[in-house]
Amino acid sequence: MKKTLLVTSLLLASVAFAAPKAQWVTVDSNILGKLAPMQKALMVEKEAGGVSLVQLTESELEKLSSAIHNELHRCGGYIAHESEAEALLALEPRGDMHYGMKGLFADYDIDQEPLVVPMVAEVKAANIEATIRALSAFHNRYYKATTGTDSQNFLLETWTKLGAGRSDVKVELVKHASWPQPSVVMTIEGSDYPEEILIIGGHADSIAGGWFGSEKSRAPGGDDNASGIATITETIRIAMAAGFKPRRTVQFMGYAAEEAGLLGSKDIANTYKTRAKSVVGVVQFDMTLRKGTADKDIVMMTDFTNAAQNEFLGRLIDEYVKVPWGYSKCGYGCSDHASWTNAGFPASMPFESTMGDINKAIHTDKDTIENAGGNANHAAKFAKLAVAFMVELAN
Ligand code: BES
Ligand code: ZN
Repeated sequence: MKKTLLVTSLLLASVAFAAPKAQWVTVDSNILGKLAPMQKALMVEKEAGGVSLVQLTESELEKLSSAIHNELHRCGGYIAHESEAEALLALEPRGDMHYGMKGLFADYDIDQEPLVVPMVAEVKAANIEATIRALSAFHNRYYKATTGTDSQNFLLETWTKLGAGRSDVKVELVKHASWPQPSVVMTIEGSDYPEEILIIGGHADSIAGGWFGSEKSRAPGGDDNASGIATITETIRIAMAAGFKPRRTVQFMGYAAEEAGLLGSKDIANTYKTRAKSVVGVVQFDMTLRKGTADKDIVMMTDFTNAAQNEFLGRLIDEYVKVPWGYSKCGYGCSDHASWTNAGFPASMPFESTMGDINKAIHTDKDTIENAGGNANHAAKFAKLAVAFMVELAN
């Protein structure tokens, strides 16, 4: 893990206390520009990709923090680094770690315990298991197969039933121009900031049998990725059962055609970018069923993801899920989080194991719940994380 510290105003007191006298800080250049009186006092050492590097004393850092808080009404919004070298590294665009700045300005404080704790306690592995079995029962969920459209209609129905009776909730099929399988999107309209969106998604399609045989091949896709969709479905069930009314808009997405090259998520993320939608954070659940790695239950992928949001998810695990977690990487844009990262939005992918311990049954007719532990106890940890992320970031 990089020794990068996301400083929030809540943490400020303790950080300022422990930190050395001068701090290297990277901050969004736009934000710096808006803080006119501050900017005069601050020498910008270097600027790259919309990020400015400044060196601050403790009291200047405090001023910056309160200016961001008072003038721009946000918490945190900058990263303090331990050395100039580390700060310069944060300005470099790097393949394995993306410091997409947008995510740094989300409020990553954890302050919704009274709401989150009872909701997390409602997660039931048996519900997740039932959804995995129902999705795996489709012959396949391939993006060009009729069963791939049938399975999306099933998901539409399942989510619609869960949201029934709420005027602030809608569930829709999102059609794609170039292939038959639609994506499914459920929206809970935010009560206070409806234009600010957070997204909890996973791919709903499955594949086996190679490129040409896929339309006919049996592809239960139990772990990859009925598990992620079932994890999201349990999150939705709990949100509805609790009568949860988010202040920001929450969207749940079951993407089409991920296995064909992230097609569904790419289509949606690019549309959001074109329409200049304000996406505060995206979490991808792709494979949550099989516990592979002995000493880590949840593994955050570091590539094509946002480091600050990954760190936030880690703190949410410590606070609400209480299981060991760590980092790994795919080494390529391995799932739909990459579509969001490529469109400029902060995305994360908490994963079931490290890459070294990967489930070898995926993309075959053997990708079943039986071959991934026989129950959804591992996936339940991810549903708890999804509930915590939803409530903490939406409010
Ligand atoms: N769930 C996998 C991604 C994955 C596999 C992550 C193994 C970590 C370990 C995903 O559904 C998938 O199969 N992705 C493709 C790439 C995509 C661009 C078609 C892959 O990994 O080959
Ligand atoms: Zn896959």
